[in-house]
Amino acid sequence: MPHKPVALDHVNIFVRNAELSHRWYTEIFGLHTQDMLTSPATGKLRAAFLACDPDHAHDIALFEVGEDAPGPQKKQVGLNHIAWRMGTLEDLAEMYERLRARDIPFSVSDHTVSIGIYFSDPDGNGLEAYFEQPRHEWRRERPFSEPGAKGRFPGPWDEMLSQSPPAFARS
Ligand SMILES: [Fe+2]
Repeated sequence: MPHKPVALDHVNIFVRNAELSHRWYTEIFGLHTQDMLTSPATGKLRAAFLACDPDHAHDIALFEVGEDAPGPQKKQVGLNHIAWRMGTLEDLAEMYERLRARDIPFSVSDHTVSIGIYFSDPDGNGLEAYFEQPRHEWRRERPFSEPGAKGRFPGPWDEMLSQSPPAFARS
């Protein structure tokens, strides 16, 4: 099928305060700021476009909807989380320490071919930072549903993982 997308690409999310979210996403993920929209009347930030790779226009756009906007609701149809793929397991371990240092609540889940850390942005939008094994190391056809050995991702999360039940809904 030649006429199909090459990849799922950027996300565009609503936030209560673009200034605050811009700072938060930049600090947590080390993103490049590619562009910003400000209100001509107030000069206040209305939207920010951020990317992991400075050669990409954006991976995430943050659009301000105001302080009174209701946050995401649980058990509502829509987005569960946005996942950020880390280049190495060491990078994920660093993310773990960064979240801990900032007292951001999170959980960790081992998905056999990948391991993810789950948390939320200041407005409650679901996020995941994860590391995935290369395909040739999966040793399975179906990445998530086949029974298989977990614990192939040693790290600072070891104790936390041994205490938490599997979070199937989050894969
Ligand atoms: Fe996920």
